[in-house]
Amino acid sequence: MDRIVVLSGAGLSAEQGLGTFRDKGGLWRHYDLGDVATPQGFARDPDLVHRFYNARRANMRAAAPGAAHDALARLSQRPGITLVTQNVDDLLERAGARDVIHMHGELARALCHACGARWDAPARMAPTDPCPRCTARHTRPDVVWFGEIPHHMDRIEAALARADLFVSIGTSGTVYPAAGFVEMARTAGAQTLELNLEASGGRFDAIRKGPASQLVPNWVAEVLRQ
Ligand code: APR
Repeated sequence: MDRIVVLSGAGLSAEQGLGTFRDKGGLWRHYDLGDVATPQGFARDPDLVHRFYNARRANMRAAAPGAAHDALARLSQRPGITLVTQNVDDLLERAGARDVIHMHGELARALCHACGARWDAPARMAPTDPCPRCTARHTRPDVVWFGEIPHHMDRIEAALARADLFVSIGTSGTVYPAAGFVEMARTAGAQTLELNLEASGGRFDAIRKGPASQLVPNWVAEVLRQ
């Protein structure tokens, strides 16, 4: 297997305490995503949105990468690997992973709605923060909200078109375009593998069920032995 595309979701970081969205106790059980993960919600109540992401940013900074993040970091040193994540946490980078493609943005980064400037987010953001470049008071977390276009799609689709293997880790496969990656990989002739606590229902050639902290290091060890 020369060219491997790996897609991860919240299940990759769940055991590090960062939670998921749709599992029991998930974030979308406690917040209306329309209030905190849409441009409309941000326009309505930017203070609520900043408080939501400030709390998630604090959780992220208090968390540490786990065995699954460490394993993917090792894998990322191998040629031919494309690491795509829906996650906005920085645990893969902190584990030493190279060139992580954050298609839903990054909690550790901030964005100016007015001029498009990006910078490292402070621990706590507020609606009154001025943009460091244009000073407009219209800064937001650099994450992709529902209704917005995910980042790096050209690069991701090009990698899927050439993949020999597509591996989906810890995602429910409910949010597009990521949910369509397995079909794109199959169409390109790639083998497909799911590593998840439960099968997501996607059309995978193989499914391994269990926690990412066990499945991912075992799978990476198999790949690196090849
Ligand atoms: N190990 C492996 N998989 C796990 C674990 C674990 N320890 N714990 C949970 N999972 C799996 C669940 O079985 C489920 O398939 O993680 C997945 C979590 O699903 P979601 O909560 O829907 O998270 P995700 O698929 O990442 O959501 C996709 O939706 O809300 C948006 O932008 C948000 O990026 C997110 C996107």
